[in-house]
Amino acid sequence: MLVKLKKLKSLIESIRRILPSFTLGIKIRGHIVNDYTMLVKILEEYSISYIHVDAMLPGHKRANIEIIRKLVELTNIPIIGNNSVRTINDVHKMLRAGARAVSIARPLIQNPKFIQRLVRDYSGRITDESNYSTI
Ligand SMILES: Cc1cc2nc3c(=O)[nH]c(=O)nc-3n(C[C@H](O)[C@H](O)[C@H](O)COP(=O)(O)O)c2cc1C
Repeated sequence: MLVKLKKLKSLIESIRRILPSFTLGIKIRGHIVNDYTMLVKILEEYSISYIHVDAMLPGHKRANIEIIRKLVELTNIPIIGNNSVRTINDVHKMLRAGARAVSIARPLIQNPKFIQRLVRDYSGRITDESNYSTI
């Protein structure tokens, strides 16, 4: 649907008609999109509250930060950056590109305590020392 934007528009329109005042967000795979300007126009038209973007860079184990930068330039809809956030530096890169938040999937599936490392690196302290040694 990210390449067939008319179809996406019609789907969002139907959902919006059913849920006129609900907070609606969208998750997209950034690299699939051809026309970011049109995508953003549709999302704004239907008052989408956030864009959660998997900024995967195919063939690499890092995100394509340019995708986040481009979306931030095009819209005021808050952007949640995603893909390959593994260190606090990765978090900062996405936030510097204008993301309002980041999301993390695989490391947390493998080990939920992964989040403690990020929190420690962010705040400069370990929040739960008894569990931290097992990470
Ligand atoms: C087991 C698994 C299930 C996933 N299920 C979904 C899903 O249902 N919907 C979705 O939008 N993304 C799904 N994803 C993609 C993740 O949300 C995320 O975009 C992707 O793994 C990249 O982020 P990461 O590097 O933090 O893992 C899934 C990923 C994994 C590993």
